[in-house]
Amino acid sequence: MAKRINVGTLISGGGTNLQAIIDACMADSIEDRIDARILFTGSDTPGVKGLDRAQKAGIDTFVVDYAEIIKSCKQGVDPGMLPPDFDMEEILEKQQLISVDPSRGGSAPNSIQMEKIEFFLKSRAIAERKLLDNILSHEIDLLVLAGFMRVLTPYFIDRLNTIEGQYRIMNIHPALLPSFPGTDGYGDTFRYGCRIGGCTVHFVDYGEDTGPIIGQKAFEIEAGDTLDDVKKKGLEKEWELYPACIQKFAESVC
Ligand code: GRF
Repeated sequence: MAKRINVGTLISGGGTNLQAIIDACMADSIEDRIDARILFTGSDTPGVKGLDRAQKAGIDTFVVDYAEIIKSCKQGVDPGMLPPDFDMEEILEKQQLISVDPSRGGSAPNSIQMEKIEFFLKSRAIAERKLLDNILSHEIDLLVLAGFMRVLTPYFIDRLNTIEGQYRIMNIHPALLPSFPGTDGYGDTFRYGCRIGGCTVHFVDYGEDTGPIIGQKAFEIEAGDTLDDVKKKGLEKEWELYPACIQKFAESVC
């Protein structure tokens, strides 16, 4: 058995993955239990069921209301609203979420597109600073994104991944990466007509769903399955995969 690692979690919704991780941390039998404890659950949306799940398990919770922050940024981003250590040039150079550099195969954005990109990065950094203010008051080994439906910019990632070459943020994606990155993995898998679907746990890097893969699980899509069937089969696999990947991480660091 490894030493217990300290885990922080971020969610956006129902939190069934969070529940699977809570259950695995608290399991009575040693075979089912993982060597992790959850220190907090943060959400980008107030009032979601995942927050209730955390509170029932005695886990500290917090909310950083992304929708409110983005709405207030639309009135104008005053430089005083930005984190003091925010550096647009550095973030633009590092990020791989949006193509801005023709030398890296993308086309150069025009000034209107550039304004939108900068607005995106500034508003997210304002929200991410608030996440960090909550997160960094805890000593965590690993941050687990359990259905957290926001991309993270290098501003946030660099403040968690402080040791070169060591990833500390994990995500679960509802498709067999590198196929079907983005927000609707099961939908994209189903609409493509795939006969196999799956889920992937990976580390978070500067791209969208591009970081190193930790584990995957697959399931068959039968003739006659609906999108709801695919989502149900997928989620059941996610609940097995995520705790197993956290355990793998715990064993690798202890
Ligand atoms: C899961 O399918 C996960 O892969 C995706 O969002 C969903 C979250 O479900 N990123 P839940 O909130 O854990 O129930």
